[in-house]
Amino acid sequence: MDMINSAVSFAIALVFTAAVITKIARGRITVDPPSCKALPPPPVVTGSSIIRLLHTLLTKGFRWMIQEQYTKLGSVFTISFFGLKTTFLIGPEVSAHFYQGLESEISHGKTLEFTVPMFGKEVGYGLDITKRTEQISFYVDALKPSKLRCHVSPMLEEVEKYFGKWGQYGTVDLKQELEQLLMLISARCLLGNDVREKMFEEVFSVFHQLTQNGLHIMSILFPYALTPFTLRRDRAHTRLSKIFSEIVRSRKSTSNQVEEDVLQKIIDSKYKDGHPTTEAEVKGLTLALLFAGMHTSTNSSRWTGARLLSHPQCMEAAVKEQEDIINKYGGQIDYNILVEMSVLHCCIKEALRLHPPGPTLLRKVIKNFTVRTREGYEYEIPRGHIISSPLVMNNVLPYIYKDPDVYDPDRFRPGREEDKVGGKFTYTTFGGGRHACAGEAYAYMQLKVIWSHLLRNFELMLVSPFPETDWRSFSLEPKGKMMVSYKRRALPGAVFIK
Ligand code: HEM
Repeated sequence: MDMINSAVSFAIALVFTAAVITKIARGRITVDPPSCKALPPPPVVTGSSIIRLLHTLLTKGFRWMIQEQYTKLGSVFTISFFGLKTTFLIGPEVSAHFYQGLESEISHGKTLEFTVPMFGKEVGYGLDITKRTEQISFYVDALKPSKLRCHVSPMLEEVEKYFGKWGQYGTVDLKQELEQLLMLISARCLLGNDVREKMFEEVFSVFHQLTQNGLHIMSILFPYALTPFTLRRDRAHTRLSKIFSEIVRSRKSTSNQVEEDVLQKIIDSKYKDGHPTTEAEVKGLTLALLFAGMHTSTNSSRWTGARLLSHPQCMEAAVKEQEDIINKYGGQIDYNILVEMSVLHCCIKEALRLHPPGPTLLRKVIKNFTVRTREGYEYEIPRGHIISSPLVMNNVLPYIYKDPDVYDPDRFRPGREEDKVGGKFTYTTFGGGRHACAGEAYAYMQLKVIWSHLLRNFELMLVSPFPETDWRSFSLEPKGKMMVSYKRRALPGAVFIK
């Protein structure tokens, strides 16, 4: 039953939702006249093939559905379902326009309309592209590596305090533990001490209401209809607006207080014409950032754990690196030391190759464009199509990644660098081009703070089976519990916290 639920919601949510929304919002799809040199459209999956495709989706999952079509039709194909056309572009050779095409030619369209009632019409997809781009630049600025250094200490404090509560040995559901820890870190570094200390429980329980109801399939398909989900979403939004207004006002009234959290950076941001962000914009931008960063990071930390704990050799190499770093710097950790953890970096990156939190990225074609596959076939992708860059497939192409389903962090190390084989759109877990993830460096920093602490202070063993992927969730998470037994240890020179 679970599998059916998962596959159905996934099918609706990720492959066809965007097309449905677009169609509802924009009326019938129109197609530009073909360009002078008329190229064929991509091969189309229709009729009885759709039934087979849905069967694979239901029994095996999204990745296998795409893989089957890729094997049959190649790297570019269209799935046509009740007149809704989604074209899949697989691999770096056909992805450049997807990632770096001009907004006037290719855009998110209405595919993210459901986020407007979640975060407010003052931010993101409630706005025209010019203002939205300016707002994204606030994120990019607040999260650039030079501004991240100040977050290492608070992150470390949260991590040490959290794991300090574990006993000498025991068994935990690591999936739940990491979720709780990531909320605490996000509260502290993104939202600041006032939220972390005084209203952590309330903010995160209301935020959970907002995302759970805002991401319900009914709210995605009909974001403005009156349903129990949209009503609960709107109630949560109203409550969060009030909380954030109070925080912003209180911070502005105590102007001598210097906060280093991301919320403060958003409050201090100014548009090009010099005007500052409003209360509603601060609220929306902060909620959207929390949304972009929380589930992705939580699931990344979980998959990193699941993979490391199932691959003793990789675990050994990661622990050895911690020993070497401790020998060099003692127990101390700062931003530069985190950057030096290249073995751990590759272990995380490889976990994210196999388990990208977002299975696919979507855009809408505003202007026809052409693609050329590595076999030399050329296709014209018509205006109106939804296009999908399926990360779950891009990341396992056998002509790029040797033994693509094997967890092998060394594939990224000098001499192999498989993530560069096809140019800059080879490894797409963090997107790329115009909308590349603004939080990539922050995400790695946070994952390294957590995992270096665990490696230094605990012997860990996965006692439940290696988790399957839960396709029901928007951010692909390990299914079921991740039971892990632990025993305290301290690598020589590591700070032992109890
Ligand atoms: C391992 C964790 C993460 C992964 C795998 C991830 C992945 C992605 C991907 C694939 C995109 C591109 C979406 C698209 O093209 O439509 C994206 C965008 C974005 N991410 Fe992340 N992300 C992660 C963590 C974070 C964190 C921690 C933050 C902030 C604290 C963040 C902030 C953003 C923002 C603001 C964008 C929008 C950029 C734009 O539209 O121009 N992400 N992320």
